[in-house]
Amino acid sequence: MTVSTCAATSESAGAAHRVNVVTQIRLVWKPLVFIVCLVPAALIVADIFGLGGTLGANPVEALQDRLGNWGLRFIMMALAVTPLRLLSGWNWLARFRRMLGLFAFFYVLMHFLTWLFLDQDFLLSAIAEDIFERPFITLGFVAFLILLAMTATSTAGMRRRLGRRWQKLHYGVYLAGILGVWHYWWQVKQDYSEPLLYATVLGLLLGYRLLRRRSTILKKKRTAAAAGA
Ligand code: HEM
Repeated sequence: MTVSTCAATSESAGAAHRVNVVTQIRLVWKPLVFIVCLVPAALIVADIFGLGGTLGANPVEALQDRLGNWGLRFIMMALAVTPLRLLSGWNWLARFRRMLGLFAFFYVLMHFLTWLFLDQDFLLSAIAEDIFERPFITLGFVAFLILLAMTATSTAGMRRRLGRRWQKLHYGVYLAGILGVWHYWWQVKQDYSEPLLYATVLGLLLGYRLLRRRSTILKKKRTAAAAGA
């Protein structure tokens, strides 16, 4: 066998392996991850109907708190995909980012709807007053609108249509994360340990991306300078 036939054979074996991995992710791992992402919602529904646990003395508040926390956790998970992928070299992780982002939106939407219908009774004057006069609600609402815009543009078609603007828009998930943590922080009265944990994770994820960006820019500058010399 010549060197070129050898290379062609190993290239086609590599391509076949890649197709295999992609098919496995689509048919096995994605449905599995989807089901796991629904577990918190299923547990909340079970507690609403008193199957196993309960929502406690203030069910509306408990519902809002649990949905809000899961919204924030999924934002963190979606944000963790790229750093984990870059650190580990597991490029397949990127295939789960959209799903995690959509689940973040799902939990935040449920959190928002709980507030809208169960807390505010869908009274427009009370809703407007809450959004404009309680700063922590204003922050949450802006974060919700950012996630809404990202969800609406998350399809492959929108990605193609928006081109380079798509990436810029989707960096908005960092802003949604910051506003979400701030929103949580602002309404805490005593124990800051949980929002502090979210803030630390968010800080690490953001810090990693900024450092990486800086080192890429520096590398590019050095290469350009070396090419010019
Ligand atoms: C990205 C968007 C959002 C995230 C990540 C988020 C997350 C959270 C979290 C983690 C909490 C605290 C839960 C706890 O005490 O354990 C919370 C509380 C709360 N959020 Fe949000 N939220 C978001 C958007 C909104 C929106 C749009 C509204 C309403 C317009 C809202 C209304 C509330 C209210 C009223 C509480 C306090 C519930 C209570 O009385 O304990 N949030 N949110």
